[in-house]
Amino acid sequence: MKTAELRSRFLQFFEQNGHQIVPSSSLVPPQDDKTLLFTNAGMNQFKDVFLGFDKRPYHRAVSSQKCVRAGGKHNDLENVGYTARHHTFFEMLGNFSFGDYFKRDALRFAWTFLTAPEWLNLPKDKLLATVYAEDDEAYDIWLNEIGLPAEKIIRIGDNKGSRYASDNFWQMGDTGPCGPCSEIFYDHGADIWGGPPGSDEEDGDRFIEIWNCVFMQFNRDEAGVMHPLPKPSVDTGMGLERIAAVLQHVHSNYEIDLFVNLLKAAARETGVPYNQNTPSLKVIADHIRACSFLIADGVLPSNEGRGYVLRRIIRRAVRHGYKLGQNQPFFHKLVADLAQEMGGAYPELKDKQAQITETLKHEESRFAQTLETGMSLLEEALADGGKHLPGEVIFKLYDTYGFPYDLTADIARERGITLDEAGFEREMDAQRARARAAQNFKANAQLAYDGADSEFKGYSERETQAKVLALYCDGEAVNELKEGDIGAVVIDKTPFYAESGGQVGDVGYIETNNNRFEVRDTQKIKAAVSGQFGIMVSGSLKVGDTVCAHIDNDIRDANMRNHSATHLMHRALRDVLGAHVEQKGSLVTAERTRFDFSHQQAVTAAEIAEVENRVNRAVLANIAVCAEHMSFDDAIAAGAMALFGEKYGDTVRVLSMGEFSTELCGGTHVSRTGDIGLFKIVSESGIAAGVRRIEAVTGLNALRLVQEQENLIKQTVSELKAQTPQDILPKIQAAQVNSRLLEKALSTAKTELAKHAGAALLNEAVSIGAVRLIAKQLNDTDSNAMREIAADLSGKGDNIVVLLAAVNDGKIALTAAVSKALSKTVKAGDLVKHAAEQVGGKGGGRPDLAQAGGTEIDRLPEMLAGVAAWVNERV
Ligand code: ALA
Repeated sequence: MKTAELRSRFLQFFEQNGHQIVPSSSLVPPQDDKTLLFTNAGMNQFKDVFLGFDKRPYHRAVSSQKCVRAGGKHNDLENVGYTARHHTFFEMLGNFSFGDYFKRDALRFAWTFLTAPEWLNLPKDKLLATVYAEDDEAYDIWLNEIGLPAEKIIRIGDNKGSRYASDNFWQMGDTGPCGPCSEIFYDHGADIWGGPPGSDEEDGDRFIEIWNCVFMQFNRDEAGVMHPLPKPSVDTGMGLERIAAVLQHVHSNYEIDLFVNLLKAAARETGVPYNQNTPSLKVIADHIRACSFLIADGVLPSNEGRGYVLRRIIRRAVRHGYKLGQNQPFFHKLVADLAQEMGGAYPELKDKQAQITETLKHEESRFAQTLETGMSLLEEALADGGKHLPGEVIFKLYDTYGFPYDLTADIARERGITLDEAGFEREMDAQRARARAAQNFKANAQLAYDGADSEFKGYSERETQAKVLALYCDGEAVNELKEGDIGAVVIDKTPFYAESGGQVGDVGYIETNNNRFEVRDTQKIKAAVSGQFGIMVSGSLKVGDTVCAHIDNDIRDANMRNHSATHLMHRALRDVLGAHVEQKGSLVTAERTRFDFSHQQAVTAAEIAEVENRVNRAVLANIAVCAEHMSFDDAIAAGAMALFGEKYGDTVRVLSMGEFSTELCGGTHVSRTGDIGLFKIVSESGIAAGVRRIEAVTGLNALRLVQEQENLIKQTVSELKAQTPQDILPKIQAAQVNSRLLEKALSTAKTELAKHAGAALLNEAVSIGAVRLIAKQLNDTDSNAMREIAADLSGKGDNIVVLLAAVNDGKIALTAAVSKALSKTVKAGDLVKHAAEQVGGKGGGRPDLAQAGGTEIDRLPEMLAGVAAWVNERV
């Protein structure tokens, strides 16, 4: 029996026994379920129904569910390729009872489906069952009701180290619905090594679990406490690939019909002979399923969470291709084979084939760039015949070459080498600490300090001899900072500017001999006390030490250029836009200046250009920048701009740039305006009602901006096969016109093609009395084309009834059309309404042409089959 047939037989059996067929849910669990990485069992979509939080119109359900078990609680990734039965992606057949039947019917249904001659007809003597050790009820059903011999019913207790930790106690995740279970095993025969469940040889391949029947009874909470469910329920799961192997009399899942074609495709694309036993081919054939289905369900490769698991699976597949000698991107080419193989049951594979292919191609190409270099690094590390890979190498492979840990572990396993996992973890911890350190300095600025003030020397000095007044580690005062400590240093005299007036704090280092503290930020911890925040990168520092404090010159210079430019811009904005312009906020960093100000409307391109002109003219005037201390009143009298709402002391610092600017400011500035270099605005936007934000760059950053833009223009010119930048615009406009024409032509051609194909459907019409009926599902047809086809068909006679269906993006579109002459007796609107109701939708419309939608794709074949009866009642 082919896999596809098996899937539908299962659904059919349970449907006949009163179960609602429910489509597979997405591989990405719903937003509010944080307990799951991926859908890993058929019951996931019913979790809330089991818990009593959600109700469905049915009490029995059956499904074939897409599952991924990679990352998270149930993780099979590392075994894939090396065993006969592990997969990252698989389909789980399952039947469910929500407070309806319990153990007796669950086991009986399973037994009947497996052994009845009209269903799977498996030999009874090949089957055995396990039950949870304390579950006498299930044991009794197997023994006395189903008639399984006692020696074939095995009790398994808490064999995994704690209460309820058992092969026969199933739980979805660390929390959630769970309960004891009974598993059914198939004996593949004495010529295969392995023993029955519970024996020492249970890991062998002879006895294979095919069906797990879980008796859902509890909800496990975060503390591990089991709360009884509102109603005992049933959740079962049977791996489709496993049971297909049994029915196709093959031993490995990879030998079933569905996998043979994928393995052949993997062999074709890697250029090796097809062989079912090549582990790398199995890995690739397995992984293309997981990756394609995940992308179809909206997961994209990334560096965290689900996206990272996807990335790991893709990289593992690519590495196995590389191992077979394929060093060009190949993996994405298997998407077409997969869509061919499984697109019937899962239309999303066909609908999104192009997107899946592109995503994989991009990701493979990226990894290909570092794979080879990473592999040589690894070979080098093992060149002396070593059997142990040091943590630093594993970390470097991970950090620099993008080898996830499990990828390196995969290689290690093949070569019989061990990995220094602890060493790798140490490197990872250090990296996390570095990242934390980079983030946390500011958060720590609240330090308890009541010592002397620190004197700011940074207007004139770049390095200063000083004495350590206080030290802090993780926010607590200490006497000494040791290597690796993250903390803060207070010194009596400092060249480090502490963040204020919008200018960020200085960075640099504080050192004595070989002891070095790296300053990543400087913040005021009191009005006149600066804290230098950072990390002790080597040696140690003690309170009382004499040190030399150095600021980073390049960063400080860049800060100063941006700060002085901000003053010039402030003035230019007032001159160009009007005196209503008031500073609302500012941030000056080494990269750029960000300036927020009051202004009602967007600043126009012409105004921006004028501001740029004025600032650059002031720069070229190369005026000396002067700072003077004077009383607040004198400063205001001299025309200095003060910020409304800002607190100033009695004595203020007045910063002036000749006629161009006079402001109260404590920041650090260039000596002459010419030091600023080119000034260029990069963006203008609104951030609140009546508040605009401008960002600008200066000096080398402005040069870099110009260079980048010039590069971009050059690339565009060459990509467009243009001669000069002036050609770019006309070329793009012409291409846009052209593509609109092509789109139009394509859409007309598609509709024509569809009509043509549609006309052929007339030959498939069935006769109901004098009426000819066409009820069909179409592939790759959107609802507009379908409407044209249906209208066209119904116009080909005066006795034609048409019902067409198509599945696009997981939704059903329906169109009914009836020949005019017939549309008084058989109404298209009624037909489409009737059809839609059966596939979970609504609709209606005109008597000759009507459209509707639906969602229950599984019910489509049955609905189409029933149309003849509906028409029959009306003619
Ligand atoms: N939810 C059960 C399992 O996954 C049936 O094994």
